[in-house]
Amino acid sequence: MGPPISSDRTPGLELVRITEAAAISAAHWVGHGENDRADQAAVEAMRKAMDEVSFNGTIVIGEGERDQAPMLYIGEKVGRGDGPEVNIAVDPLEGTNLVAKGRANAITVIAVSEPGGLLHAPDTYMEKLVVGPPARGKVDLDRPVSENLEIVARSLGREVRDLTVVVLDRERHRRLIAEVRDAGARIHLIEDGDVIAALEVAVGGTGLHCVMGSGGAPEGVLAAAALKCLGGEIIGRLRFRNDEERRRARTMGIADEGRVYRTEDLASGHDIRFVATGVTDGELLRGVRFFGRGVRTHSVILDRRVGKMRLIDTTHFEDPAHPPVVRL
Ligand code: FBP
Repeated sequence: MGPPISSDRTPGLELVRITEAAAISAAHWVGHGENDRADQAAVEAMRKAMDEVSFNGTIVIGEGERDQAPMLYIGEKVGRGDGPEVNIAVDPLEGTNLVAKGRANAITVIAVSEPGGLLHAPDTYMEKLVVGPPARGKVDLDRPVSENLEIVARSLGREVRDLTVVVLDRERHRRLIAEVRDAGARIHLIEDGDVIAALEVAVGGTGLHCVMGSGGAPEGVLAAAALKCLGGEIIGRLRFRNDEERRRARTMGIADEGRVYRTEDLASGHDIRFVATGVTDGELLRGVRFFGRGVRTHSVILDRRVGKMRLIDTTHFEDPAHPPVVRL
């Protein structure tokens, strides 16, 4: 007999409708050079889709504070209101720039947990180190880059020169990039999108073995939710850009600036679900494909409690009475 599936939770297939709706809306903007409109399309579709879902949700990571964002703001209540109480972290469009330029690896993302299960991370940077399950518990943010890479290589039974490290292509990472190169590892520089990069590191066979460098702290929590389900690890430390960010973090209850967060601190929930849909093609997820009277989406649902990773390939018929030609 398989693991018990409780009926007191929102089914994963209801949750995936949220990221699918956002991905389809955002995908209309691929290559248009319109970052804001792509983002807005995803936000509006995601917000609308949430109200069809049977949960009683509170946004804990979203588009900003109530006075900055008209929807999906922190503290906003979402859902049909007839289901379980949940906390929700969203990035309606992770990789806005990628969509605007028609580049790979843009996704729409939500993570859901029981109340209190996701850190209310401030909108600042986070220094991150992400590894897959074999190196979990072995690496440390305060070790030199070369030592961490040795550990990752050993955990995978290979040499450092066989590793590929994902790093956001930013000026601030110049020194890190030099250190990785000096250690002998290869680098995959990405333009944007460190959440999907974390997933790709945790899923074997993608050819990516580690993420290093700083990216958004909210994205760190989303990545932690996925890594918790997959058995990988993220270690992070907040990096404030100015005093305003520091002040804001203090009001959110963050007292120790130098604190090192592990996966469990960022995503402490027991009942964590992580759902993402591809907007543009990537290693793990295909992007949205429009054809005639239908749209095809590709999503991942990770479920910590039940212990499942599902890849969902969906063809949405525009008119059920006149189905399009469905392809394999
Ligand atoms: P959005 O598209 O959601 O704005 O974020 C993209 C992203 O590349 C994240 O994946 C990453 O964590 C962050 O931005 C990096 O921030 P910055 O562009 O300031 O270096």
